[in-house]
Formats: sequence, structure tokens, C-alpha cells
Amino acid sequence: MRFGVTIDDLNSSVNVFFSFVNFYLQRQDSARYQLTEVLQMSTILHIDSSVRAITNPNPNHNSISKNIALRFINTCRQKRRTDEYIYRDVGMNPPAFITQDWIGAVFTPEQKRTPAQHDILALSDRLIAEVAKADIIVISTPMYNYGMPAQLKSWFDQVVRINKTFDFDLARGDFPLQPLLSGKTLVTITSSGEFGFEKGGIRESASHLQPHLRTLSKYLGVETIYEIAAEYQEFGDERHKTSVSNALSRAEKLAAELADTAAATALQPEAANG
Ligand SMILES: Cc1cc2nc3c(=O)[nH]c(=O)nc-3n(C[C@H](O)[C@H](O)[C@H](O)COP(=O)(O)O)c2cc1C
Repeated sequence: MRFGVTIDDLNSSVNVFFSFVNFYLQRQDSARYQLTEVLQMSTILHIDSSVRAITNPNPNHNSISKNIALRFINTCRQKRRTDEYIYRDVGMNPPAFITQDWIGAVFTPEQKRTPAQHDILALSDRLIAEVAKADIIVISTPMYNYGMPAQLKSWFDQVVRINKTFDFDLARGDFPLQPLLSGKTLVTITSSGEFGFEKGGIRESASHLQPHLRTLSKYLGVETIYEIAAEYQEFGDERHKTSVSNALSRAEKLAAELADTAAATALQPEAANG
């Protein structure tokens, strides 16, 4: 039996200590690298809702809102390294309208739902999962009858759901609804035949598209909104050409700016740690 500590014992303890430190530093570097990767990557959810296609045999029939959104997405994907991209064209493939049975299923506690009720909510579950995953949500929409197309409203009705995207508590007084998601950026891209729907514009009082999108966006967890609008489609004049061209450039610029912001955010932990 030995009670003393030899030089060999000390050496081996020091070695163990340094390999431990080395291992820890390598883990830190790799964690920092992974953090940078994750922050630079982002999930983009892109919802188009015009009933018109992006390209048609007669280009005059091409959807303006979808083409501006495409410009945004293409620029975004060029500038960011590895985006996960989820696309839905609800104009061409509208989600089902909600029904009385849908509401019944939503208000039945999850563990008590029948298989039929789970089936009814399957689409809603899938659409909500896409929203929950997204960092950036891009919604392109035409103005139909001064508001959003029914197809897009149907998507919102499937997505904005109690205990999934918001909860409800009368203890909150006159504002019982509270969003459950957060931190998302929304880019809305709209196209209208008329013009002057902005604040102070000649049709401000008929503007039910952007204000509706703004109100609903809260329940998608949106904290920052960027709006791009093309107007004058029905006039088909120079004002229309200028409006579309401005919207396309703004889409490109915004995509580049958002990519820069993401890169700057990704670098922050590095800078803070020296
Ligand atoms: C059914 C329908 C309703 C429309 N309602 C309006 C309207 O209320 N106000 C308006 O400014 N333009 C209206 N428009 C014109 C569209 O907003 C315009 O054509 C827009 O460019 C359509 O979007 P898209 O090019 O992406 O398909 C309407 C068009 C359609 C087909």
C-alpha cells in the first residue's frame, strides 16, 4: 500500500487534466461553429395565393404577386447558404374550409379526440407545423374584392387555432387571446388593380387586405413585418409598370438586407466571445 504521491502520479494527473481541457475547447469550437451554421440557416415558408399562374401562354395573365414573391425567394436563396424552403400555392390548391366538425375536434382535448377527429385536424396540424418551423414567412396575395382571396383566408382559418397558435384566458381581461409562437418575420407581397390603399391614400377606407394580414400575423408569431405592394394593374399604364418595377427591386433589396441581418446575427456570438 502506498500513501505518498510520486512524480509519475503527478504527470499522469496533469496529462489527464490537459486532455480534458483540450477536449472541452474542441467541443466549444464545434458548438460555436454549429451555432453559426444554425443561425445562418433559416426556414422560409412561402405561401402564394393568386389563382393565376406564375407563367401563362399570354404573359399579361401572369400573376404579379407570385412573380414578385419569386424574385424575393430567388434572391433570398442566392444570398443565404442553406435555407429550408417550404412552398404552398393555396391559390391553385386551396386548403379545405373549416366546418362544424372541425371546430368540434379543435375544442375536444387532444387525448380524447376520436380517430375521425384526428383526421379532420390532420391538415391543420401539418400547416401549423410549417408555420412553427418558419423563421421567415412570405405571403403573396392579390386583392380580391378589397380583401384577401377566400383561398388564403381558408389557410389562415386552418392555421390560427386555439392552443396551437394562440391560447385564450379570460384572466387577461378584455384581451384574452395570446399568441403562442414568436420571433418570426413576415413579408407580404400584394397586387391590386386600383391604387391608393396606403395610409392617407385615396382608397385608405377600402383597404382591407394589408390591415387584415397585419392583424392575423400576430397569431403566426410574427414580430416584424415588411410590406411590398404593386398597384395600378387595371390601368395598365406607366404608373403600373413603375409600380411593378419598384416592387421587384424592393423584393430583391429586402431579400439581400434580410440575408445580411442573418449573417450579422450569426457572427454575434463569435464577436462577443472575442
Ligand atoms: C375576382 C377579382 C377581384 C378583384 N378585386 C379587386 C379589388 O377589389 N380592388 C382592386 O384594386 N383590384 C381588384 N382586382 C384586381 C387584382 O387585384 C389584380 O388583378 C392583381 O394584380 C391580381 O393579382 P395577381 O396578378 O397576383 O393575380 C380583382 C381581381 C379579381 C380577379
